[in-house]
Parts: sequence; structure tokens; C-alpha cells
Amino acid sequence: RQLAGHASAWSGPMDALPAAIHACQRCPLHSMATQAVPGQGPQDARLMIVGEQPGDQEDLAGVPFVGPAGRLFDRVAQSAGLDRSLAFVTNAVKHFKFEPRGKRRIHKRPNAGEISHCRWWLDAELAQVSPKLILALGATAAEALTGSGDNILARRGTVETRADGTTVLISIHPSFLLRLTDGQERDRQTDLFRDDLRRAAAMMQ
Ligand code: URA
Repeated sequence: RQLAGHASAWSGPMDALPAAIHACQRCPLHSMATQAVPGQGPQDARLMIVGEQPGDQEDLAGVPFVGPAGRLFDRVAQSAGLDRSLAFVTNAVKHFKFEPRGKRRIHKRPNAGEISHCRWWLDAELAQVSPKLILALGATAAEALTGSGDNILARRGTVETRADGTTVLISIHPSFLLRLTDGQERDRQTDLFRDDLRRAAAMMQ
């Protein structure tokens, strides 16, 4: 099957996908990261949740969304009645991109080329899981899944349809909530995020 932007889709056996992602050297990001972080969850999940890229803790653990953004996601998801264990959770980009600063590793946003290179693996995971609904968390996920980098705050809470017919519910990234310093605005945005997750729980049924 030809996929837009790729010479061809990944064609290995599907249970070999995580190992293939671990071995990936398709872009330079692999050389700095500890390891690639493949998606995790049931291979027949009705919901696929897509984030941006592993963060510092995910890079060390090899598991998506286990750091601060993941813990916040889990808290809001629980209050929205969304069971994360039923979802296949992955990222648009599989390696952590960062800038070393002293002992710290400062997150850097993946660029369009990195997103595009790594879509090879996102498409392979999508083909494997074939979810009913995709929940895109943030601008990078939305861009990787829909091809559009349009403003995420204008699109959040809306449903878009991919060329392959899959439905994508667009939302913000939980790290956006972590960055908000105004408490009232954080509460308001958290409520909107909870609404999105509630809707995802209903739509995946
Ligand atoms: N942020 C993401 O987008 N994904 C992770 O796995 C962790 C933090």
C-alpha cells in the first residue's frame, strides 16, 4: 500500500514493529536519545492516543507518557472516565529531542522533517492497530496525523477525517496545561481538556 509522503509502507511482520522502531536510524535524533519509545497498549485498541515525542523520563523508561505530562493526562483521563489501559498510546516522533544544558536535558520541539520521517512508524502503528478513533494531543500529533500545522487552540475539540477515513479528535497537549501560570486559565483549559477526553471516551465506543 502506498502512503502519502512515503516510498512505501513498512512491510515487516507486525509483531516485529517495536524492535524495528528501536533500531531506527532514519533521522539523526537516534544518536542523542537513550532509546526509541514505541507505542504501547492493546494491538486491537479502538482508541489510539498520539502525543508529540518521548520526554526525559520516557526516554529513560522506554515507555510513553510516564513523566509529568503523562501523570497529568492520567489524572484528567480518570476524571473524564477514559480508561488509558484500553488505548494504544504512542507519539508522533519516537526519539527524545533535547538540548543538553548542564546536567539537564531541555526538550526541543521536533521540526517538520523529523515529524515527516517518523510518520513512517506512526503509519505502521496505525495500520497495525486500526483504531476507530485517534486522539491527537497537541500540534505535533495533529500535524503528523492530518498534515495540517494550523493553530491548535483554534482546532481543539474538533473532529477531522484523515485521507484513510480515520477520525481524529484534536486536543491540546497536557504539557500546555503544565506551562500555564495563571491558575484560572489553567483550570479553564483543564476543564476543556477533560471535555475532550470525555468525548474521546464516548466516540471510541
Ligand atoms: N510528551 C509526549 O508527547 N509524549 C510522551 O510520551 C511524554 C511526554
